[in-house]
Amino acid sequence: MSGTPFITFLGPSNLSEYDRKKSPHEQTSTIPKTFIDAMEVREQVFVEEQHVPLENEFDSDDARACHWVVYASINTTTDPEVKDADGNIVQRKRSLTRTTPIGTIRLVPFPHAPHPEPGSKFTFDSSEEDSTGTPPYIVDRATTYHDGVEPYIKLGRIAVVKEFRGAGVAKILANAAISWAQQNPKFFNPSVTELGMEKLGATRTDQIPVWNGLCCVHAQEQVENTWVKWGFKTDKEMGTWDEEGIMHVGMFQRLKIEKPAS
Ligand SMILES: CC(C)(COP(=O)(O)OP(=O)(O)OC[C@H]1O[C@@H](n2cnc3c(N)ncnc32)[C@H](O)[C@@H]1OP(=O)(O)O)[C@@H](O)C(=O)NCCC(=O)NCCS
Repeated sequence: MSGTPFITFLGPSNLSEYDRKKSPHEQTSTIPKTFIDAMEVREQVFVEEQHVPLENEFDSDDARACHWVVYASINTTTDPEVKDADGNIVQRKRSLTRTTPIGTIRLVPFPHAPHPEPGSKFTFDSSEEDSTGTPPYIVDRATTYHDGVEPYIKLGRIAVVKEFRGAGVAKILANAAISWAQQNPKFFNPSVTELGMEKLGATRTDQIPVWNGLCCVHAQEQVENTWVKWGFKTDKEMGTWDEEGIMHVGMFQRLKIEKPAS
């Protein structure tokens, strides 16, 4: 990797034409480039390396989520240096620098589907997704750090291409998503005038969902300690579950936000 890696943000976007059965580079040109780049990283890491089926990698949360992608400039030699018998350079080395996506993370707004049942085993099934792309507001089972009702945002799909691991790229991604949420605490709060009280699961105005800093992650067990380093605590009562053949745990963190809800 040469040069400083840089990071790009993509807010919620229309991905209705994304074809989950096709690779990112085969998608139509209406899909935002940043999302294609995020999916390229996710395909390399989750599909090729961790064997998640390609059609299960994209889900309806992708359109309503915020995504971050880290890029690196990679320098590759196209023509090596050539010397003559006396050691004089007859052809200088030629190289090409290209920018490539190397890491990604996404932040999904509330509401969410219920917490997985402890000990459950499931694989993503697109036919079970809510047709609107947003699950309904529900009262979930209470766990160690979640009362079942409070709105929370969910970080996930963090992935760094193998050759670039151990250099702090995931840390850059997690920090970017967390600081962005802290600086934009009202971004995901629903509009009552647009949705109406009933859809928000509220009968009184004090029941209208307002984000108060609670952040969740469904972490693969082997990276639980990494999320701990970033301030998350394992929610014991969420238990563990098997998703796409990979064991997961639930973790929470309450982020300090600029203007806490009253
Ligand atoms: C998990 C993953 C995103 C980490 O990416 P990364 O860029 O290598 O991570 P970083 O270099 O930013 O390291 C972050 C911290 O985690 C630690 N860490 C990273 N990988 C680790 C590992 N395999 N074992 C133990 N600690 C690890 C680092 O020591 C670092 O701690 P520090 O900040 O105190 O030094 C990357 O390994 C990956 O893509 N794995 C496969 C996909 C995956 O499992 N995603 C998690 C879904 S929940």
